[in-house]
Amino acid sequence: GSGLVKNLSLVFLTFQNSALILVMHYSRVMPPDGDHRYFTSTAVFLNEVIKFAVSLTLAMYETSKTLAPSTPATVLFEQIYNGVFSSDGWLLAGPAALYTLQNLLQYVAVGNLDPVHFQVLYQVKILTTAVFSVLLLRRQLGLKGWVSLIILTLGVCVVSLPSSEKAADSFLLHGVPDHFFPRSKHELGQTVAGAAMPEPAPHLSKRSATYEGIAKDLPPADPIMVYSAGVSAVLISAIVSGLAGVYFEKLLKESSTNASLWMRNVQLSFYSLIAAFLGGCVYQDGAGIGEHGFFEGYNAVVWAAILLQAAGGLLASLVIRDADNIVKNFATSISIVISFIFSVWIFDFTVNITFLLGTLLVLLATYIYSVPERKTHRPPPVHIVS
Ligand code: C5P
Repeated sequence: GSGLVKNLSLVFLTFQNSALILVMHYSRVMPPDGDHRYFTSTAVFLNEVIKFAVSLTLAMYETSKTLAPSTPATVLFEQIYNGVFSSDGWLLAGPAALYTLQNLLQYVAVGNLDPVHFQVLYQVKILTTAVFSVLLLRRQLGLKGWVSLIILTLGVCVVSLPSSEKAADSFLLHGVPDHFFPRSKHELGQTVAGAAMPEPAPHLSKRSATYEGIAKDLPPADPIMVYSAGVSAVLISAIVSGLAGVYFEKLLKESSTNASLWMRNVQLSFYSLIAAFLGGCVYQDGAGIGEHGFFEGYNAVVWAAILLQAAGGLLASLVIRDADNIVKNFATSISIVISFIFSVWIFDFTVNITFLLGTLLVLLATYIYSVPERKTHRPPPVHIVS
């Protein structure tokens, strides 16, 4: 039944989360095939195109079932059109703008942090989502809820505060952070001209040694700066995620029109398309796209990141409908562990003791939040026989 759909969506979402961050990260640190690395706004835009197409198809299918069999298709389109441009549909422009900002910031964050630090820091959204749920949805959290949130916040603080530059350095991936990657192959050619690729250090895999080789010949990256760019982006993204998610949940569950999930997703992705185009493709990357083209730097990895993100968005919407944003965030925080295992394997990720301590606190918080309260005071069921 619906419980099975809910639990399956949660499991898929957890794996999707890990895969998305690893692939997205890789897409931002791998050397570009062409002249230039891809523009993130185009990826955010195409992600919305995919979600719009899927949601529109499902919303049309749903609507067609409520109409008589011989109803012309124009009536169907009219219904969807009216939904998007109704005063109620317009409300989705709010979460659409927020989600677009969040998605653009997420690319900045994964490009400048390794996937594991990104995942741990991004868990701040558990806290922001809870606060917005209490404020906007009048949810009650209870003692257990608040205690786990405090532990979570502590854990995130422990992970995010580097004690020295050397510690900050350990946040850096063994590659070229997005922030410092040359803008074009031409520049890259200039910086590495004549320089022989150094011998790979024995403890590094071939792949990361290549990055280090490139990184060596670039202006020295200031680890604190890269770290701050990544951390600011992930923290702002977490705040925006909390607000956007709760806002969407409120419109989905508390509006008087009772529009279906797929109708809501059509409305959301329609306004997100506009936001991603204007805020991303025109404002953020307009000059670069004008010069290099919309599909500059695209390859299979970029497409994989886009498809994973679109699938994740649709899954997230199912989970928000069948459970809520708080449950979604606690469940997906398990993806820290999956990302960790893959990062050690693929990106030669190494950890220090502060990192481990902080991550353990985050996982402990997740556990405390999700175990059911002991029902010691519940009276035994009474059967009244008349
Ligand atoms: O990190 P967080 O869980 O907040 O990310 C949710 C993702 O799901 C965002 O990328 C957002 O664009 C997407 N989403 C969606 N449709 C919804 C709700 C969220 O595509 N109805």
